[in-house]
Amino acid sequence: MVKTDLELSAGSSQHSYPFLSLNPVTSYIQLVTRLISHIQVGIVLLDERKRVIEINRVASQYLDLDRSRVLFRYLEQIIPYFNDEQPELDHLISFLTSSVQGQKQTEIRWNSEGKMNRLLITAISTDQLECSHQGTYFFIENITKMRSLEEQVRCNQRLATIGQIAAGAAHEIRNPLTSLRGFLQVIGGRLKEIGQKKEQGYIDIMLKEINRINHLVSEFLQLSKPGQIQVKPVNLDQVIDEILPIIQSEAILHNIHVVLDRRCKLSKVIADEELLKQVLLNICKNGIEAIDESGLLTIRIRQEQRREYFVVDIIDTGPGIPNELCDKVFEPFFTTKEKGTGLGLPICQQIMKEIGGKIRLKTSSKGTTVSVYLPGTML
Ligand SMILES: Nc1ncnc2c1ncn2[C@@H]1O[C@H](COP(=O)(O)OP(=O)(O)OP(=O)(O)O)[C@@H](O)[C@H]1O
Ligand SMILES: [Mg+2]
Repeated sequence: MVKTDLELSAGSSQHSYPFLSLNPVTSYIQLVTRLISHIQVGIVLLDERKRVIEINRVASQYLDLDRSRVLFRYLEQIIPYFNDEQPELDHLISFLTSSVQGQKQTEIRWNSEGKMNRLLITAISTDQLECSHQGTYFFIENITKMRSLEEQVRCNQRLATIGQIAAGAAHEIRNPLTSLRGFLQVIGGRLKEIGQKKEQGYIDIMLKEINRINHLVSEFLQLSKPGQIQVKPVNLDQVIDEILPIIQSEAILHNIHVVLDRRCKLSKVIADEELLKQVLLNICKNGIEAIDESGLLTIRIRQEQRREYFVVDIIDTGPGIPNELCDKVFEPFFTTKEKGTGLGLPICQQIMKEIGGKIRLKTSSKGTTVSVYLPGTML
């Protein structure tokens, strides 16, 4: 029998290969298996009959599969182990089961360890690797952070463009609007004097629309003027007390109950008070608009475990945000509402960035929680 290089060298000087046991080839395979198990990329190896020959720790973690249950089983036996609530399960199954010539890649959204990840899966057939065994290798990489950074860059570019357009156009739009509003008010007054109620109603509608345009222009300007904020220690409880009546009056109109849940004392944060109110009002408004029928809007104030931040959780019992839209809601102009501008959340995010805080979103079919993280103060 012809000995391999490894067997020969191991046999001649055992001491220089302390990891090799009596059967060096087996030990070598064990070593490789151990290396694969520590590598930070998910690896799955299928043989030509689509039986799992290896699945490393990272792949089992990403795909939420128990290695000992799936090893040496056929792919079709494993498929029932996948959680069927995964949004792109069918896509994953068809990718894993389809034949591979050379190399192919796909990207899936996959819920694991309590969060939605983006996984990049590369399939390589073993002939591509000039390997004597027939089969397919799958490499699984978690590219969630990379995609979110790319999205952030794209979003910043869009914001910068909107900013430039807004700064240039705002005055040009506002000036004629001001004279239009003035003249319409005069005409409205005259119509009232001569009792033309119907026509006066039209003027009121026109004035309302002008106010809407004005409001939109102000929002544009807000996106375009970073750095115009004044941060100082702010009493968060007081801020909430001041905006609560506004939220409640809006909620009553929609038959929604508002609950305030204070879980910490003396919540002093660093923020711009007026902008903070705007952030909280915007998010509460979204919550109220999301709840179709009577429901509950909870405003919870808590201190984060590491005590770096105070957090305001705005929890609604609405239908949640569909998974495929979660990445889009912070994009300027993304809206699913007939009368929405899609600027609410991007403005909130911009403000929070400037304050040094952050916004996090958790959603399911039972509702959405938007968490506003505010840097605390030692005062
Ligand atoms: N709490 C929520 N529940 C469900 N969907 C939400 C929630 N908050 C935001 N969304 C989704 O995100 C989209 C964007 O929200 P955003 O506040 O930026 O704009 P908008 O509410 O549509 O319009 P605007 O705030 O300008 O009136 C909404 O249209 C909605 O589809
Ligand atoms: Mg909104």
